[in-house]
Amino acid sequence: MNILFVGDIFGSAGRRIVREHIGHIREANAVDLTIINAENAAGGFGVTPQIAEELFDLGADVLTTGNHIWDKRELIDYLNSVPADSQKRPRRVIRPANLQPNLPGYGVFEGTTENGVNYAVIDLQGCVFMNTTNDPFHKANALLSGIKAKVIVVDFHAEATSEKVAMGWHLDGRVTAVLGTHTHIPTADQRVLPGGTAYQTDVGMSGPYDSVIGVEKELVLHRFLTGMPGKFEAAKGNPKMCATLVTCDPDTGRATAIQRIMLGE
Ligand SMILES: [Fe+2]
Ligand SMILES: [Fe+2]
Repeated sequence: MNILFVGDIFGSAGRRIVREHIGHIREANAVDLTIINAENAAGGFGVTPQIAEELFDLGADVLTTGNHIWDKRELIDYLNSVPADSQKRPRRVIRPANLQPNLPGYGVFEGTTENGVNYAVIDLQGCVFMNTTNDPFHKANALLSGIKAKVIVVDFHAEATSEKVAMGWHLDGRVTAVLGTHTHIPTADQRVLPGGTAYQTDVGMSGPYDSVIGVEKELVLHRFLTGMPGKFEAAKGNPKMCATLVTCDPDTGRATAIQRIMLGE
């Protein structure tokens, strides 16, 4: 079974490059499950219901997010539009599970592939150098005790490489993959850990690489050079799609291979 995970889509350039490549990647690799981190898909800040629908039309099964989940207020009504046990599209947009309790949306989606394989996708956010959340390590334990599917993919949306590596070891042998997002820079450390969990510190952004992690470089440099505030805008240049392909045994959920993908124009 093949799982495609697409790293943070950033703005219109990211959406365009993903639209260009996702079809042939899914076909060439006989992808059974497609997960996209969409937290920056709307101009770099959040995701709108309309863009979520576009990404589902491209073949996404689940959209994960992160610290930008609340940037587009209209997404809240979309998340609230279906009950917890729904399989409809709004329920397939998930936010970090370890935010404060009783917020809109859900941190886990459990579904079934077209081939009949049960799976779960979990979204967690790191604590180090991030906004305050609840502990993602104990939250992962609690969530896993309630999930029956063998195929489980964790999007660990975190800043610090140490925290991400630690989460990989924490969940090794208990989930199919721990894939990092949020830094927008792909890392070259993809591997299958000894317990059978595919791990990568960061999948990397799907967006404009002639930028500072997606934002127009002049605007970011101005802030570094002057310390003055200014509006950030999504860059457009040199778009790349970054994704990771995980192969696993659908019966055990253990990963057998992990491969990085980076495609440009
Ligand atoms: Fe991001
Ligand atoms: Fe983020």
